[in-house]
Amino acid sequence: MFITFEGIEGSGKSTQIGLLKDFLEKGGHTVLTLREPGGTSLGEGVRSMLLTVRDEEICPEAELFLYEACRAQLVLNVIRPALDKGVIVLCDRFTDSTLAYQGYGRGLGLEDICRMNSSATGGLCPDITFLLDIEAGAGLARAWSRLHAEQGVKEDRFEREEMRFHEKVRRGFLEIAESEERIEVIQGGGEIRSIHKDICAIIKRLSL
Ligand code: TMP
Repeated sequence: MFITFEGIEGSGKSTQIGLLKDFLEKGGHTVLTLREPGGTSLGEGVRSMLLTVRDEEICPEAELFLYEACRAQLVLNVIRPALDKGVIVLCDRFTDSTLAYQGYGRGLGLEDICRMNSSATGGLCPDITFLLDIEAGAGLARAWSRLHAEQGVKEDRFEREEMRFHEKVRRGFLEIAESEERIEVIQGGGEIRSIHKDICAIIKRLSL
């Protein structure tokens, strides 16, 4: 079972992934949690390149190739082998993030991105995706307060983008969800425990 979480910054993905991991492990499952970009040496290296404020702007096309390169490595070396062993994989972001951020947000062609996504994943598609939807302003406020609370962590280049960008990304996610049955839209602004309950109810329906 391959489960992904999507949403804009501050939508609460990582909290919900942690809670779902505990829930599934209590049910006797072996669970692997991953994040994109990341999860491999290449992915973590590229992540810090992409998210660190630098004096050179990374152009949208370069950004797209970097995310896809990390994904190809993660799918081949980590996700596929884990799924083959019967491990449940929970991934913080996957192909929908590329469509939402590089496609809807940066304006790159959606069809090209779909082709690159399927080339990077070798056709691997999540069994279910939870889209935690939250208003861009509320999400960014949460993300900001989290970053300020963590000593030494500076804003990253995505969180410096104007609100308009995040609104475009949010609308993109919602549009993708309309055309993809595997995507469950969850209101991300609510109480953490109640969101977790909703997610568990959906997972139980999948008879895990
Ligand atoms: P996060 O996982 O901590 O939210 O940080 C990852 C950042 O990378 C986030 O701003 C979204 C961005 N991103 C893309 O723009 N495209 C992608 O394909 C992925 C996986 C992430």
